[in-house]
Amino acid sequence: MGPLLLLGCCLFTLLIVPVSLFLVTFAFRHSCKLVGLERPSVLVAAGILFVNFLALGLMDAVLLEVVTAVGAACPPPSTRRCCGCGSGRRSRCGSSTGCSSTRSPPPSGWSCSSRSREPMTGYFATCARGLEQVLADELTALGAADVARGRGGVTFRGEPALLYRANLWLRTAVRVLRPVLEADVRSPDELYDAVRTVDWAEHLTPDHTLAVDANVRDTAGITHSQYASRRVKDAICDQFREKLGVRPSVDPDRPMVGFNLHVSRDHAVLSLDSSWDSLHKRGYRPIQTRAPLNEALAAGLLLAAGWDRTTPLADPLCGSGTFPIEASWLALSRPPGLTRRWFGFMGWPSFDRGLWAAIRDDARDGVRKELPAAVVGSDVRRDAIEFARTNARTAGVGHLVRFDRVDVLDARPPAGPPGTLVCNPPYGERIGDEEELFGLYRAIGEAAEKHWKGWRVLLFTSNDQLARAVPLQVKKQLQFFNGKLMCKLWEYWN
Ligand SMILES: C[S@@+](CC[C@H](N)C(=O)[O-])C[C@H]1O[C@@H](n2cnc3c(N)ncnc32)[C@H](O)[C@@H]1O
Repeated sequence: MGPLLLLGCCLFTLLIVPVSLFLVTFAFRHSCKLVGLERPSVLVAAGILFVNFLALGLMDAVLLEVVTAVGAACPPPSTRRCCGCGSGRRSRCGSSTGCSSTRSPPPSGWSCSSRSREPMTGYFATCARGLEQVLADELTALGAADVARGRGGVTFRGEPALLYRANLWLRTAVRVLRPVLEADVRSPDELYDAVRTVDWAEHLTPDHTLAVDANVRDTAGITHSQYASRRVKDAICDQFREKLGVRPSVDPDRPMVGFNLHVSRDHAVLSLDSSWDSLHKRGYRPIQTRAPLNEALAAGLLLAAGWDRTTPLADPLCGSGTFPIEASWLALSRPPGLTRRWFGFMGWPSFDRGLWAAIRDDARDGVRKELPAAVVGSDVRRDAIEFARTNARTAGVGHLVRFDRVDVLDARPPAGPPGTLVCNPPYGERIGDEEELFGLYRAIGEAAEKHWKGWRVLLFTSNDQLARAVPLQVKKQLQFFNGKLMCKLWEYWN
């Protein structure tokens, strides 16, 4: 009850006592006159007073009931919010898909400790290092709350619908995780104990299959990712066995509830993996040429470069066609997860099939049929062009993106206004010999200057010397990681 209501209650009581006394005395005198009892005995007077106070007490009780009912129907904001760190409201966060976006974030990232036995809320989308800002922009555009860049990923919060949209739409994310436990652990046994502190019945049942994908580094006491993953699985299964006598079984390939364990410098974060298979696997590239570019990285480079999606784009060293295919999906507003059959969240007990179908169908309805400008690719290798064409057909853009077998020296811009030339030439790490490559990088620059005047020229490579061999003035360079390899996207004046 609020202080104002309490005050009102007291005033009401103070007011009603004299009024009631007056009324009862008045009624009493008239009753006595009526029955001819001029002088009532002390006993009768006491009886009347008792009845009066009983009536007052009843009125107060009724008033209190009304106040309590009103209070329950309109709780203060803090109780309407989802579970918070240290708020002791875990039971209100039964949904495994996250908390209300109205909740305040934990003080410092995933700072809720497992020791406090509070589940963490919110999400962490992982990405290649260097793409954090691009991913953060993507999440903001999707309507995510509290978007914050981290190292190799972005934290954010949102409703279940946002989690579905994130998996469907994010072009630069590798996976979207929902952290449920964070703890300092120095050994596999400490990891086991920490995992036991979570009530796993909130996230799965013994009928669900599970798997734990672990990544452990810089932790002296835990040296094997596989063993760490087994200890996590044991802790979850043991809890179920002790409570219910049955335990979930393991499906390493397609678990209904997949976990992601990340241990670094004695610090563990255990998350539900809402994606399971990496989101960079778009499904259009079963066949690979040598050294293909990761799809999420290719899309991220286009976004980081600020390609506007409405002007032409060409990759004259296209390999399997990753840049042109990702560019066409961007220009068509086609979500990268549109035809993907399985996301990790689909096996969760909280999975809302109707909501997911509505989100996916809505996205499908919004895909454009035509490209606003030409998107083309070419390569000197015949097999590369065949792969690129097959991949484009699988991606549903075979009729929209043109691929030609031609040397970069002979490649020409498509008709229309100047656009963006982007390429990822061999850089000596996996294919090609560095010495020979200097000639190729020089040729790319010369061809751009001669035939692609007015076009933006973007080149992605891990080799700074090769990039500087391009006979064009460097305008900008952005740094990214392609796996463990530090690479740069170079832009030249043309
Ligand atoms: C690193 S791969 C590009 C990979 C591509 N981005 C992908 O995602 O598959 C480099 C490509 O440059 C092509 N290439 C090398 N020399 C070329 C030349 N002179 N003209 C055109 N393409 C060339 C190779 O055939 C190879 O496919």
